Amino acid sequence: MKIGIVGSGLVGATAAYAMVMNGIGRQIVLVDLNKERAQAEADDLYHAVPFASPLEITAGDYEDLAGCRVVIIAAGVGQRPGETRLQLLGRNATVFKQVVPAILNAAPDAILVVATNPVDIMTHLTARYAAQMGVSPDRVLGSGTMLDTARFRALLARHVGVDSRHVHAYVIGEHGDSEVLVWSMVAVGGVPLLEFCNDRGITWNDEIKAGIENRVRNAAYHIINGKGATYYGIGSALARVVDIILHDQRSILTICNPERNVAGVEDVTVAMPHMLGGNGVIGEHNPLSLTDEERSQLHHSASLIKGLITDLIE
Ligand code: 2OP
Repeated sequence: MKIGIVGSGLVGATAAYAMVMNGIGRQIVLVDLNKERAQAEADDLYHAVPFASPLEITAGDYEDLAGCRVVIIAAGVGQRPGETRLQLLGRNATVFKQVVPAILNAAPDAILVVATNPVDIMTHLTARYAAQMGVSPDRVLGSGTMLDTARFRALLARHVGVDSRHVHAYVIGEHGDSEVLVWSMVAVGGVPLLEFCNDRGITWNDEIKAGIENRVRNAAYHIINGKGATYYGIGSALARVVDIILHDQRSILTICNPERNVAGVEDVTVAMPHMLGGNGVIGEHNPLSLTDEERSQLHHSASLIKGLITDLIE
């Protein structure tokens, strides 16, 4: 029940807040290069505990991660207005070279959950560094397109007027500009989207579809322009991942994990629906019945990420 968070900026601290408010875990340790910031966040968060559930929150060094069941990695820089996630790669890859071994030296049994962007490539790198220390790839995952999937479901839910928990839809591939919205599989309460709209007299057309797609794909740009960063959505997603692991819930999420093959692209890390349980990722990603167009979009997305991984590693 001990959770580590490395990087206590807005994403790390918000993940901790979501855990506090949902009573997830019993102990949270914040680690940051900026110790004063980590301490300040830990103190501020601890003052929320009496309004939620009993939980210990402290700031510490890497060695204080000893015994963590899960460590979230949210270290590194985020996008500035107008920047893409992929532009962060060089800066954040350098940070991870030190961070991943430092975490695993202190907490060799932890499951690592990567949130730093570009999250697919950072997860690939983390799995590589972890493998060098004998850690299986099942124990390394990234938040992938959990957030994009949530955005997709939330916007669809608003349009059809149904609880978003009963709207099933996936965004897969890169967490970024080339991500793929799997329209062909959208279902509301098990009923295909078009059928649901027709049955209920809900307007559905290409313009509405394009509007939702645009708002999903470009959500982060709008939010970053408006307030500098995104953190509530991703913080909640990370807290959910921790809960699933702590309670071995075997939930299916669009997380990223090293894949043998995605739409014909080998040895790549992009988001696909995976089952997650107490020991990490369970098996390979779920096979999806994609249309030819979706498969070709996924191939494009996975190839783009694969190209960047190859450039980085060679
Ligand atoms: C997001 O999609 C910036 O990756 C972050 O909100």
